[in-house]
Amino acid sequence: MEQKPLFIAFSTQKGGVGKTAFTVLLSRYLHSLEGKSIAVVDCDFPQHSIMEMRKRDQGLVISDSYYKRMAYEQFKEIAKKAYPVIGSNPINAIEDAQKLIADSENKIDIVFFDLPGTMNSKGVVSTLREMDYIFAPVSADRLVLASTLSFASSLNENLISIGKSSIKGMYLFWTMVDGREKTPLYDAYNDAIGELGLSLLNTRIPDTKRFRREMDETHRPVFRSTIFPPDKYLIKGSNVDELVTEIRQIIAV
Ligand SMILES: Nc1ncnc2c1ncn2[C@@H]1O[C@H](COP(=O)(O)OP(=O)(O)OP(=O)(O)O)[C@@H](O)[C@H]1O
Ligand SMILES: [Mg+2]
Repeated sequence: MEQKPLFIAFSTQKGGVGKTAFTVLLSRYLHSLEGKSIAVVDCDFPQHSIMEMRKRDQGLVISDSYYKRMAYEQFKEIAKKAYPVIGSNPINAIEDAQKLIADSENKIDIVFFDLPGTMNSKGVVSTLREMDYIFAPVSADRLVLASTLSFASSLNENLISIGKSSIKGMYLFWTMVDGREKTPLYDAYNDAIGELGLSLLNTRIPDTKRFRREMDETHRPVFRSTIFPPDKYLIKGSNVDELVTEIRQIIAV
C-alpha cells in the first residue's frame, strides 16, 4: 500500500514562540535527507510569513550573485529543487494539502502545516486533529506556559486520548531558554507537565539571536531560510541538531 504522507505541525495557542521558525528549520533540515520530499502549507492567513520568506529567498537567489552561486553549489550536491510552499488558511489547509499531494510529480513524504495560534482562529482545531504529530514550543513565561498547558491538555482530553483524531503523538519542548534561568525552575515545570499526562522532548532550545538570521545583502551566515540549510557554525549551540534527532526518532524518518 502506498504510504500516506505524514502531517506535522508546530502548534501552540500563543503567538511568537517559534511555530513559524521551527517549521522553516525542520522542513529545510529534513529536505536535505536523501529520498525525502517535503512540502509546507502556510496556513497563517493573511500574513503567510513562510510564503513571503520563500519569495524573498528566491528573489535573492535570482538577483544576488553570491546566493546564486550558493544555490548552484547546493544543487550540484543534493540535486533537488526547493520544496513547495503553498498558501492556505486553517479552514482549507487539509483540502489544499491533499490537492498538492495529488498534483505533485513526486511522492511527498512529509507535509508541515504552519498554523496561527488557536485562539480566535476558526479551523485550527479541525486541522490539528488531522495531524500525525504535533510539537508545541513553550517558553518559561508564566502566560505562555499556562496557555500552552491548557491548549495541550484540552487537545489531549478532547481528541487524542479518546481516539477522535489522527494524532499519534503530541510533544512539548522548551525554547527561548535563558541560560541564567535555574534548572530547578524547569524541573518544577517538567513535573507539572508530567502530572497533566503530557509528553516533553529532552531538547531545550536556547534563546538566541541567530533565529533572526535570514538571507540578506550582508551575506552573513544564514540560520532561517527556505532554500539553504542553517549554517553549520550557527547550528552549533542552537540545539537544533538534537531537536531534529529527537523528532526523527519519534516520526521514524
Ligand atoms: N529560540 C529562540 N531564541 C530567540 N528568538 C527566537 C527563538 N525562536 C524564535 N525566535 C524569534 O521569535 C520571533 C517569533 O517567532 P515565530 O514567528 O517563529 O513565532 P510564531 O509562533 O510563528 O508566531 P505567530 O503566532 O505570530 O505566528 C521571531 O523573530 C523568531 O526569530
Ligand atoms: Mg507564525
